[in-house]
Amino acid sequence: MPEDRLISPHMLGDEDYSETSLRPLRLSEYIGQDKVKENISIFVAAARERAESLDHVLLSGPPGLGKTTLATIIAGEIGRSIRKTSGPAIERPGDLAAILTNLEPGEVLFIDEIHRLNRSVEEIMYPAMEDYAIDIIIGKGPGARTLRIELPPFTLIGATTRPGLLTSPLRDRFGINCRLDFYETTDLEKIITRAASILNLDIEPGGAHEIARRARGTPRVANRLLKRVRDFALVRGNGRIDRDIARQALEMMEIDEAGLDNVDRMILEAIIVKFGGGPVGLETLSACVSEESDTLSDVYEPYLLKLGLIQKTPRGRMATELAYRHLGHRFNQSLNEGLFKED
Ligand SMILES: Nc1ncnc2c1ncn2[C@@H]1O[C@H](COP(=O)(O)OP(=O)(O)OP(=O)(O)O)[C@@H](O)[C@H]1O
Ligand SMILES: [Mg+2]
Repeated sequence: MPEDRLISPHMLGDEDYSETSLRPLRLSEYIGQDKVKENISIFVAAARERAESLDHVLLSGPPGLGKTTLATIIAGEIGRSIRKTSGPAIERPGDLAAILTNLEPGEVLFIDEIHRLNRSVEEIMYPAMEDYAIDIIIGKGPGARTLRIELPPFTLIGATTRPGLLTSPLRDRFGINCRLDFYETTDLEKIITRAASILNLDIEPGGAHEIARRARGTPRVANRLLKRVRDFALVRGNGRIDRDIARQALEMMEIDEAGLDNVDRMILEAIIVKFGGGPVGLETLSACVSEESDTLSDVYEPYLLKLGLIQKTPRGRMATELAYRHLGHRFNQSLNEGLFKED
């Protein structure tokens, strides 16, 4: 079950509360993603200057990279309140109409997983985004007429892990399009150090580095690993998180030097051993490792691709030479070279 994985970028059951306390509230506290931040700060300043509502914003990127956090920050920066909902939660056009007509002028509407809006709901969204109005059809058959209802100006912030699934009419109506990318290790170190100070933990830079380099470029994973390492440090050490304790804890969790866990390694092994290195189709692969194909393509693949361990070809996924080396390295420590060298 991916939801139980320590390195799952999805939120686990009890994390909602603790995530809220670790969430940065201002753009200046938001670490990394410099291009996105710069972009947003310019648009925010312009909207403030003109005293207009901010253009609609689309935030895309793999889970756990800070889309929800950023949406909340944007609302704070323009000094507006934010209402949060999600694509699957808005079932009928009437649900969306009710939400839109209840917005305060200038308010931010956040729709998570916006690629999962259903078609009939989406159609209400077009005029709402473009003209701040919705068209409601009254009656049926030849006597039916449309009634236009004006809306207060508002800013829609949509978040998606699958920008490719957005229809183009919807995508085109976002004036600001931000793609979040996996974080650099140095940014994750800062995120970990910041979280450690909020949680009152004693951490050395070496400890933060060790956790950061195995956190899959993902702040949510970094914060989670930090908490597990803290527990380990309390039980096995004196509570202080240094490089050594962090390393031991992560090894015990079977997270390797590249941040891969058992499932990642199972995927690589399946491609290499069962399918001779590939190519192998997504469905076949997902059956083989007992994971949903969506989970495979949203959660596992982006990171394996980023590390260059797999390649996508028209005929399926292939293991790269690095993947062979990485698994070889796991099986035989003497093959330690290339990507996973000590730094
Ligand atoms: N740039 C950042 N600086 C500091 N902490 C961050 C940053 N981005 C994310 N975080 C931390 O990571 C956690 C997860 O971020 P968030 O919930 O915003 O991710 P998300 O992209 O919305 O994920 P999902 O796709 O699952 O909804 C936050 O609670 C926050 O603590
Ligand atoms: Mg989110």
